[in-house]
Amino acid sequence: MTTASLPRLLLGLDDHPISQLDEHLDVHGPLPSLRKRDRQQLIALIEDAGLRGHGGASFPAARKMRAVTSRRGPSIVVANGCEGEPASMKDGTLLREVPHLVLDGAAVAARAVGARAAIVALPDHDDRTAHALQAAVRDRQRAGIRDDPSFEVARLEPHYLAGQESALVSALGGGPGKPSFTPPRPFERGVRGRPTLVQNVETLAHVALIARHGADWFRQLGTPSDPGSTLVTVSGAVASPGVFEIEHGMWLSELLDSVGLDDRLAAVLVGGYFGTWLTASEVPRVRLASESLSAYGATLGAGVVVALGAGACPVAESTRIAEFFAAQSAGQCGPCVNGLHAVAQTVQQLAAGTADRTARSDLDRWTSQLPRRGACQHPDGAVRFIRSSLRAFEAEFRDHARRGPCERCSSPPVLPTPARRRR
Ligand SMILES: Cc1cc2nc3c(=O)[nH]c(=O)nc-3n(C[C@H](O)[C@H](O)[C@H](O)COP(=O)(O)O)c2cc1C
Ligand code: SF4
Repeated sequence: MTTASLPRLLLGLDDHPISQLDEHLDVHGPLPSLRKRDRQQLIALIEDAGLRGHGGASFPAARKMRAVTSRRGPSIVVANGCEGEPASMKDGTLLREVPHLVLDGAAVAARAVGARAAIVALPDHDDRTAHALQAAVRDRQRAGIRDDPSFEVARLEPHYLAGQESALVSALGGGPGKPSFTPPRPFERGVRGRPTLVQNVETLAHVALIARHGADWFRQLGTPSDPGSTLVTVSGAVASPGVFEIEHGMWLSELLDSVGLDDRLAAVLVGGYFGTWLTASEVPRVRLASESLSAYGATLGAGVVVALGAGACPVAESTRIAEFFAAQSAGQCGPCVNGLHAVAQTVQQLAAGTADRTARSDLDRWTSQLPRRGACQHPDGAVRFIRSSLRAFEAEFRDHARRGPCERCSSPPVLPTPARRRR
C-alpha cells in the first residue's frame, strides 16, 4: 500500500494539464486489469473505502452501484460533469486537467455495474473542456485500452437543474432536460431504457484511485464519515481563489488562511447555493467534514466555499440568489413555481424596506412548507439557503426591512448568477 498524502486527484498538475495518456500513466500508473476483477468485489472495494458522492448529496457510491446491479440487462454509466452550481469549478477543472482519471473511474464503475457504455455529460458552452475530454477519449481509443467501455461525450444545455439526475437522463434521451416526477428512477430504467448509474465526475476520479491503491489507502485521509480527500472551489473575498484538494476534516479557518482573505470576514457559504451560511464567529469551530458541519445544519455539498467580506451586503446577495432560484424552477410543480416566486418576492421586499409586517412570518411558514413538495430537491435546497440567510443575517435583514437598502447594496455581486445558465 502506497502512503497517503495530498494531492491525490490533482497529483502531478504543476504547470500544465495531464491530457496525454502516457503522462497520466507516468503519474498514476496503470489501472489494475478489470477483466479479472469480480463485479461484486469491485463494489465491495468502493464500499470499504467509504466513498460518498461529490455531486452534492453525499450518497454512498457503492449503494448506488448495487442498486444498478440489482436490475436486469446491460446498464450504462453517466459521468455527471454538468456542474450547474454557479460557484463551482471543480468538475470542469478535473475534466480539463485530468480527463484520464475521470475516464478510468468511469471504466471501473462500468465494470462494477456491468455497463459497456459510459457517457460523460458536460455543459455545451464549455468548448475547452469538451475538446480536452474528446482528445483524451481518442487517445485511449488509439492506445486500444482493453478494459474501456465505449465512451461518448454529451454536451448539454447548461442550467442549474441540468445535472439533477432525472433531468440529465431525460436530456441524454433527447427530452426536455427537466426532473421527472414519476418512476422509473434512473437506476431502474434510465438512458436508452437501461439501468443507469449517474455519478459525479469527481466521485469517479476517486474510484479510479481506489481501484489502484485500495480502500485502506483511501481511508488514510479524512474522517470516519467522510474518508479521503475532496476538491473545494474557494471564491469571494479571498486573495487566491481557485480549486484546491483538501483532506476531509480540514479546519475551515485553515483553508481560508491558506488562500488569504482580502476583506474582514462576515460569513462563509459552505456547500453551494443549496448550502449554509456560517457566521464569522462560527468559522473557527468548523471542520470540513459532515461530523462537524452537521452541527450547523451544513454539508460540504459540491465543495463550494464562498467567503463574504464585510464590504458586501449579505441581504443583497441573498436576494439575488432567491431570485435566481425562482428563475431556475423547471416550472413543473406548483409549490416550487409559486412558492419560490413568493419567497423571492418577499425577500426582495424585505431588502427594499417595502415588506409588510407579516413578511418574516410568511417566509418562515413558506420555507417550512416547501421541502419535499417538488419532483426534485430544488425547492428543498432553495429554502435551506433562504432560511440560513435569514438566520445568519438576521440583524441585517431587520435593518433593511426598517430602513431600506444600505450603502453596501450596490457593491459588486459576490455570488455569481450567470445569465447564460438561466433557463
Ligand atoms: C437541482 C439539482 C442539481 C444538481 N446538479 C448536479 C450537477 O450539476 N452535477 C452533479 O454531479 N450532480 C448534480 N446533482 C446531483 C445529481 O442528481 C446526482 O445525485 C449526482 O450526479 C450523483 O452523483 P454522486 O452520487 O457521485 O454525487 C444535482 C441535484 C439537484 C437536486
Ligand atoms: S421541484 Fe421545481 S425544479 Fe424540481 S421538477 Fe418541480 S418545478 Fe422543476
